[in-house]
Amino acid sequence: MHVWAAAGNCPERAAARNRHSLRRQTKPIVMKYLMFALALACGIMTSCTGAQNESAMEKNETLENLKTRRSIRAYEDRMPPKDLIEKVLEAGTYAPTGKGSQSPVIVAVTDKATRDKLSRMNAAVMGMDSDPFYGAPVVVVVLADRKFPTYLYDGSLVMGNLLNAAHAAGLGSCWIHRAKEVFDSDEGKALLKEWGIEGDYEGIGNCILGYPAQEAPAPKPRKADYIRFIE
Ligand SMILES: Cc1cc2nc3c(=O)[nH]c(=O)nc-3n(C[C@H](O)[C@H](O)[C@H](O)COP(=O)(O)O)c2cc1C
Repeated sequence: MHVWAAAGNCPERAAARNRHSLRRQTKPIVMKYLMFALALACGIMTSCTGAQNESAMEKNETLENLKTRRSIRAYEDRMPPKDLIEKVLEAGTYAPTGKGSQSPVIVAVTDKATRDKLSRMNAAVMGMDSDPFYGAPVVVVVLADRKFPTYLYDGSLVMGNLLNAAHAAGLGSCWIHRAKEVFDSDEGKALLKEWGIEGDYEGIGNCILGYPAQEAPAPKPRKADYIRFIE
């Protein structure tokens, strides 16, 4: 007869009881270490990602492009390939516009006779006869529809996108002004009609494009009070 069993003194059961109680004691300790290890790993990962973000920002290509774009005022004669010009123009179409109105239109002039005509008209506004386009083979005219209250801002942002996209694409560019005067003139209005642009369009700017024939000039130092934080 197994008296031990009846009395609860069975050695197997006692061993099992011990194992169970050991497990109960060690479980919280193991859990504690696991949580600690997890927290440590999370901390390391977070600080690594933070550092990665910082260094990614430091060498962010877009930010670098925005800083290194300069107005180029000497160009080679050769025409950039059409697909490259198209990439720059496409970037222009993604500029933000008030209420998404897309009030501007972009006219890329690569035809030499038209380019030279625009050059002459632009120079005439200043009473000069030199080429205000600095020999650039491409003149991108940005016009915007005056019926939209934000047309001037919209057109200016398109110009900004074009200038920055040109730089990103390895092309030189420069904003050449007096598009308003040129396209408010009878000759300018006739050109718009010829191009099929109908409505009350104002010339915002000319973005000249081409391969630079000069090193990009160094930027002027930024003025000390350009940026203010109100914190
Ligand atoms: C509204 C506007 C009009 C400009 N008009 C002319 C222009 O007619 N001729 C020109 O050579 N540069 C023109 N520029 C280019 C500026 O002179 C140039 O952006 C400025 O000197 C700063 O140089 P960066 O573009 O190299 O940073 C114009 C720029 C802006 C924003």
